[in-house]
Parts: sequence; structure tokens; C-alpha cells
Amino acid sequence: MQASIVLLPGDGIGPEVTGQAERVLKLVAEKFGHTFRFSSHPIGGIAIDNGGDPLPQSTIDACRASDAILLGAVGGPKWDDPKAKTRPEAGLLKIRKELGLFANLRPIITFPELVDASPLRREIVEGTDILFFRELTGGLYFGPSGTEQVSPGIERSYSTAVYSTDEIERIVRMAAVAARSRRKKLTMVDKANVLEVSRLWRRVSAALIEKEFSDLTYEVVLVDSMAMHLLSRPTTFDVVVTSNMFGDILTDEASMLPGSLGMLPSASLGSSGPGLYEPIHGSAPDIAGKGIANPLATILAAAMLLRHSLGLEKEAEVIEAAVRKVLAAGHRTADLVRKGQPSVGTISITDYVLAAI
Ligand code: IPM
Ligand code: MN
Repeated sequence: MQASIVLLPGDGIGPEVTGQAERVLKLVAEKFGHTFRFSSHPIGGIAIDNGGDPLPQSTIDACRASDAILLGAVGGPKWDDPKAKTRPEAGLLKIRKELGLFANLRPIITFPELVDASPLRREIVEGTDILFFRELTGGLYFGPSGTEQVSPGIERSYSTAVYSTDEIERIVRMAAVAARSRRKKLTMVDKANVLEVSRLWRRVSAALIEKEFSDLTYEVVLVDSMAMHLLSRPTTFDVVVTSNMFGDILTDEASMLPGSLGMLPSASLGSSGPGLYEPIHGSAPDIAGKGIANPLATILAAAMLLRHSLGLEKEAEVIEAAVRKVLAAGHRTADLVRKGQPSVGTISITDYVLAAI
């Protein structure tokens, strides 16, 4: 197979982790007789530094022309000034919107070898296997917003959550299809006791499930209650679908179940065109350039890329198996060990993965 893969390293540890995932993809291509062409493009803070725009048109064009995109992370204290004209995060939001990537898949899987790295007790987290579907191009992050001066010295700001029937239906359908091939349980999370927009989610979702997915066990859970249940009974969830902001928050919370944000990949998909793959973690500016970042989330994101955008299931499984093998052999990056315990760096852990492939 021939495929063109766009790398968007971004900021902080982004370049370090995408660099390692690229090594893994190159080895897989070589082993399985594929040709992957890579090109790297700026996004986020680095793109602001280069030309004032967190998502240059040339990056959008390259993404559109590609088969799949692998992103590192964007943002950092350097670009955090609340008064700045633009922000790195705007680049990420825009690329999602430009490519129509409305579904963000975030698998939360506990690796047996890492259960003790979780801040939660083994008997609670062991066996957790949740697939989140976070709506990614609507809601509070994209609705009308603004700031106005209401009187001298008093400003007022607003952000609005807007969803239409079709936006809700397509993400719930995608989640339901996934549930069908898993443990057949779908949980829809909202705040319908307060928010009008959530009541639309509830109606649209219930109608769709009744019409097309009556074989699934379907439940609705309020987001505040979900925040609690995720920590008290994570193994009872299979597929979870929710709006943009709730999904953003709940998946960061859920990332603690497996022990480290450094292990979790995600895929952002639309109804056609290239998918975008990235680790869930951010740019971690505090450890950038130190060679200690955990590249495994990005390497696992590369596996998702092979599976979902290139249809290379076997190759994806080979990467995932290699990561498990490395963990089983006891190799750990700093984020996965308790203070003072031995760990290996970004490049070394990747060397072990390459050896296991
Ligand atoms: C994420 C990130 C982004 C988001 C930020 C960086 C815009 O937190 O991918 O979860 O909120 O979607
Ligand atoms: Mn987030």
C-alpha cells in the first residue's frame, strides 16, 4: 500500500513524540512492504511564531491531500497571554472543523501491567475498557461567543452551546455502531435536567436508538453523576457518547484510570477524508526537550491511524502487541513509575517497541 501521512508535530513534547511514532510507522512499512510518504507541517504555537497563524493555509492543504494525519500537541506558556490575538489551540479547533472531524474516539483501556500505576485501587480499575465518542466540531467550543463592555469597568462574556439534530444523530449513530461490535452497551451523557441543548440530545438519541439500535442496552447518565461513576464503577461502561465539552472533561478524568495520560491515543474522524490521530495528552512544556516524554500514546495513535484510515488491522495489532510486550518486560517512562524508581527515556522506550515489532 502507498499512503501519504502528514505529521503535525506542534509544540512542547509534540515533535519528540511524533518523531518516535514516525520511526515505528517506518519500520512497519518496511516489514509489511508498504510505502508511507511523510511530510511535516506547522500547527499551533510554532506556526504563530513562523507567520502569526496557528493553522496556515499550506498546512490545511497538505492535510486535505493526505490519507491520514498524525498530530503531536499544541500550546504552551509562551502563547498563553489571554490578550493575544490568536492562540495555538485555535489551530487545533480549526483543523478539526476544516476537515469535518466530528467524532473523537478516545479508548480508555487499562493495561494489566500498569494497573498499579493508577491512582485508583486495582479492584476498581482492572478490566476497564471504555470507548468514548466525543462530539468534536460543535457545542460550546464552536457556538457564538463574545465579550462586551456593559458599563465602565464591567465586561460581560458569553459562550454558547449549539447543536442541531443532524450533528447529534451522526455522532450517536457512529457510537452505536461501535457498541454493536463490542459489548453492546451505549451510555449517553448529558445535562438534560438543566440544559435545553441536552434535552435535544436526549430526544434525538433515544429516537435513533429505538429506531435503529434496539439490540443495544442504552442508558443516559447526567454528566455530574458520570464524573463520579467513572471513578466508582468504570468497568460497567462500554461505549460512551457525549457532547464536545463534556467529552473533553470526562476523557481527561478517565485517562487516570489506566494510570497515565501518556498511554492514551485518540482518533478524530469525519464521514470521509483523512482522519487525524493524536495522543490525548497536551504539549507538557515542563518536560519538553528533556527526552523523557512518554511516546507510547502517539505510537498507539499511529496504530489507530493504520486501522481506521488505512485499513491495516494486522499492522495496527502488531504495534499494540509490541507496546504491551515492552510494558510486560518492565520498561517504563518516568510518568509510569513512582518517584525514585528507574525509568527510560523517549528514544529508549521506542527502541524497545521497535525491537518487539
Ligand atoms: C483536547 C484538547 C483541546 C480540546 C484543546 C487543546 C483545544 O484539550 O484535544 O482535548 O479542548 O479539544
Ligand atoms: Mn482536552
